[in-house]
Amino acid sequence: MKRIAALAGFAAVSLALSACGGGGAPEGGDTEGTEAVAGGEVSVVTWWEAGSEKQGRDKLVEVFEQEHSDYTFKNAAVAGGGGSQAKQKLAADLAAKNPPDTFQAHAGAELTDYIEAMQIEDVSALYDEFNLRDAFPATLVDRLTVDGKIYSVPTNIHRANVVWANTAVLEEAGLDPANPATDIAGWIADMEKVKAAGKVPITVGMAWTQLELLESVLMADLGAEAYNGLFDGTTDWASAEVTASLENYAKIIDLADKSYLNEDWEPAMNPVITGDAAYNVMGDWAIAAFDNAEMKYKEDYVAFPVPGSDGIFDFLADSFTLPVGAKNADGAKAWLQSISGKPGQIAFNTVKGSIPARSDLTEDEIAMFGEYQQDAMKSFGEDTIVSSIAHGAAVPIAVSEAMNDACAKFAQGASDVAGFQAELVAAAASLSK
Ligand code: GAL
Repeated sequence: MKRIAALAGFAAVSLALSACGGGGAPEGGDTEGTEAVAGGEVSVVTWWEAGSEKQGRDKLVEVFEQEHSDYTFKNAAVAGGGGSQAKQKLAADLAAKNPPDTFQAHAGAELTDYIEAMQIEDVSALYDEFNLRDAFPATLVDRLTVDGKIYSVPTNIHRANVVWANTAVLEEAGLDPANPATDIAGWIADMEKVKAAGKVPITVGMAWTQLELLESVLMADLGAEAYNGLFDGTTDWASAEVTASLENYAKIIDLADKSYLNEDWEPAMNPVITGDAAYNVMGDWAIAAFDNAEMKYKEDYVAFPVPGSDGIFDFLADSFTLPVGAKNADGAKAWLQSISGKPGQIAFNTVKGSIPARSDLTEDEIAMFGEYQQDAMKSFGEDTIVSSIAHGAAVPIAVSEAMNDACAKFAQGASDVAGFQAELVAAAASLSK
């Protein structure tokens, strides 16, 4: 049955798309057989509206408008890191049957609600049309596939479990930037040294950044397998091992500067850039902020997996969708082609800090990326890949939002470890059902 349904969906999308036509035949996409009749504005929702993230989005737009000159990009962005504001507005617009032509979402469980509500199309046919099945690694295509269908097209792969550290601050505290701690206990001891040297050990921002820190600590303490078990019921959120990890997290929150708890990731990262704080845990979009401050990787700052999570790649991917009822579906298709094609992925990812979702880059193309990203490409190929909670890969939106709330309460001192754990247990209750 599933197979028949998948095939029927595939045929419907193929028909709809070929009726709409494409926007030329740029490199990376085979649009042969379709007619370039359409055009007009393509409304695109992202949350890349400021700083280094906007620079990345601008690159995508540039490539899109070059490759599909009959279309124009219409910015429907909703600012707020991690999609903190965009997701709510989108849910309301989709429910009101007023979708944008395409929107940014995280690949993985975050799409569940949209799929179940039949608000986004199966875009498997585009994977064949654009030759994406060969261009993307099989591990990625597997992660994107739900009951044989694929509902979004990724433009990148980010890693979330990364510590960003100011070299000078570490040295002042007598720490060697090239040799970070190897587990969370050792890292907390290093933070104590930074504190003793009179600097801020760690900064953390608004709720989703706290959740990202929490997931990194969990995977460092539990290991990849038990961390994965948190999402299929084989690891109990109420277990003693989770309690021990939350106690570590509590120590880190205790050492953190609390003045950024309502701020987005960039202001929270800033003290690490200015040399007032040692550490911040953030996805590798952060590298663009260091680049903009003209700081040199491995000289002025270092980046390393959260201690204890070496060998684990905490995965998330920004991907774009084709909403049911999009007014300019052929324009959305053209956008999906550009953001998944080689020129788009190279232009975007070289400034965004992520690595391309495509694994078919030549050596010369790989050489266009910075040292950190070349290391990340290697890690993605070698490490154990796990899914980010804060960035939609591991859990549906309702679960990550409930966890965000639990983190915010805890960081503000409104719950203790036991209360925090009880709230996480409640938030995760729907996962193993
Ligand atoms: C993530 C997104 C990244 C970056 C980050 C901060 O959810 O995947 O591309 O934008 O939020 O806003």
